[in-house]
Amino acid sequence: MKATDFLKKQHKEVMGLFEEVLEAEDPESRRQLCEKIEQELKIHSKIEEEIFYPAVKELGGKGEEMVMEALEEHHVVDLVLAELPEVDPEDERFEAKMTVLHELVQHHAKEEEKEMFKTAQRIGKAELDELGERLEARTGELKGEMGTAEAA
Ligand SMILES: [Fe+2]
Ligand SMILES: [Fe+2]
Repeated sequence: MKATDFLKKQHKEVMGLFEEVLEAEDPESRRQLCEKIEQELKIHSKIEEEIFYPAVKELGGKGEEMVMEALEEHHVVDLVLAELPEVDPEDERFEAKMTVLHELVQHHAKEEEKEMFKTAQRIGKAELDELGERLEARTGELKGEMGTAEAA
């Protein structure tokens, strides 16, 4: 699978989890979904930073600029994620906090898909496929390290 398609698939998965968590009412499901979102976002950002962004950066010009901006956005997402363990799923702030994180991630993912992934097509199909394989393998590795079963 092309790297850009693989990353889009992960975007979709995490967006689904946000919808679930915002609909969940009991604290235990909220907490579990919240942990899953945290883990998936961490893995996603990491594989982009390790494998995909360097390839886009190599394109230079606009590609390089987009990567710089995306890294700053990952940083903001990390800051919000770091606060999550302190937010009680029963607290009235829970929904507000998850909504803000959802919007932040959605904005970032859309920008990647509409701008960066388009530019990235210049990398060429063969290399994008190869990067896609590396992204997939690394995802499996990180999931193993974090102690979760491979998601379907
Ligand atoms: Fe990203
Ligand atoms: Fe992404």
